Amino acid sequence: MSQITSAQLHTDPAQFPGVDVYAVAGNPISHSKSPAIHQRFSEQSNQKMHYGRLQPELGKFKTAAQAFFAAGGKGMNVTVPFKLDAQALADVLTPRAQLAGAVNTLRIEDGKIFGDNTDGAGLVRDLLAQGIQIQGSRILLLGAGGASRGVLGPLLEQSPKELIIANRSKAKADELVQLFSNLAASLNVIFHTVSLGDLEDVGKTTSPFDLIINATAAGLSDESPISDDAASNVFTPQSFAYDMVYGKVTALMQQALHRGARVSDGLGMLVEQAADAFLIWRGTQLTDVIDSRAVLAELRNS
Ligand code: ATR
Repeated sequence: MSQITSAQLHTDPAQFPGVDVYAVAGNPISHSKSPAIHQRFSEQSNQKMHYGRLQPELGKFKTAAQAFFAAGGKGMNVTVPFKLDAQALADVLTPRAQLAGAVNTLRIEDGKIFGDNTDGAGLVRDLLAQGIQIQGSRILLLGAGGASRGVLGPLLEQSPKELIIANRSKAKADELVQLFSNLAASLNVIFHTVSLGDLEDVGKTTSPFDLIINATAAGLSDESPISDDAASNVFTPQSFAYDMVYGKVTALMQQALHRGARVSDGLGMLVEQAADAFLIWRGTQLTDVIDSRAVLAELRNS
């Protein structure tokens, strides 16, 4: 298969004189909804900008991103598998990007590349917009990879009563708890891990949970990270199950629905993290001008 060039992906800034150019970089990237989302934000706020796609080869993110910025690109969203490369590329990191250990938003200013991470803020805003009470709640976070790390800081900052991380490899979950233990302690959040097996044992987890978030990659492969026995302990009709995967009712969402819980996919998180990136680039004076929930509704209906 021939290599897709940045020009074919409509992201070479030289092709758009007088227009601020942005792009989302990932591999693969053709499925990305980010160009459509940013197009709507730019229409809502009358911004003259172009937002395209960039598909660097694996291992070539740095070269592609540097070429994009050298050609006049103003900012970039970064998705799988390049969020760690984006963190390494940035000259300056925001505290939340440091804590997340990954970067999903880059901008350039005076020749310096700034790295931020809007994923966690996007998740929290989507949950709040769906009427989910995070403060004082009991949260079960499934997964201990980059997706979990990216949202832990903003979730803890909402002061839940308790946040438990469960992961297939418990050692990875323990590492995450180590990393965020100071933040959790400063906010008086009960914060610890359990194994996936422990979720099946009512004696070991004080279940059920108010909010269950799936940040594992299991949703992508039509598997649930938890067994049906665990699901029966974890979900009640008062629970809310959130899967970061979007565009389908995942196996975890089905387990939750069978037990009367409410569910959501991660499309709202995608739109909200994009909204934050847009405001980082175009200015927070546009906060009340763009309407992320309208963009989300349009995406759901398209
Ligand atoms: P990401 O950056 O998207 O979070 P990652 O770092 O590869 O990706 O992490 C993937 C997460 O999904 C991990 O928590 C992984 O569990 P392990 O740490 O035990 O590998 C989890 N995961 C992937 N497939 C899974 C499955 N089928 N069942 C349960 N957990 C799964």
